[in-house]
Amino acid sequence: MKIAIACDHGGFEYKELLVKYLKDNKIEYKDYGCYSVEAVDYPDTIYPCAKSVGDGLFDKGIVICGTGIGVSIVANKVNGVRCALVNDDKVAITTREHNDSNVLAMGARVISSEMMFKIVDNWLNTPFTNEDRHIRRINKISALEIK
Ligand code: RB5
Repeated sequence: MKIAIACDHGGFEYKELLVKYLKDNKIEYKDYGCYSVEAVDYPDTIYPCAKSVGDGLFDKGIVICGTGIGVSIVANKVNGVRCALVNDDKVAITTREHNDSNVLAMGARVISSEMMFKIVDNWLNTPFTNEDRHIRRINKISALEIK
């Protein structure tokens, strides 16, 4: 599995924790920044990260800002991306099963780092159910994309 990861200054510290986690677990990844707590505009780091998932260069993406809201809005602009903003480890499972979400957004000012790791573990390790009703709904989302 190949992961694209990005953040803004609000998510920098959590992103660094996740980069270490990806390294420790020998998961291939690309870090799209940012690379310090200096303020950046989240569209500048998140869009290239999400685009790399939409273009199929990476299997999944993880994006983090203060609330998770700004980064999820940006990621969902990209065709082929289904970004889920998740604050809870059980919802992390549901969004993989039902939405086949391929980008995970989290808010570093909203959840603890312990919760972040629970969410990431569940989200990375839960497969899509491939049930007809979910495929039908996802296809309807794709049909809304501006090509
Ligand atoms: C940055 O202060 C903050 O606005 C950003 O991290 C994020 O929460 C935006 O949605």
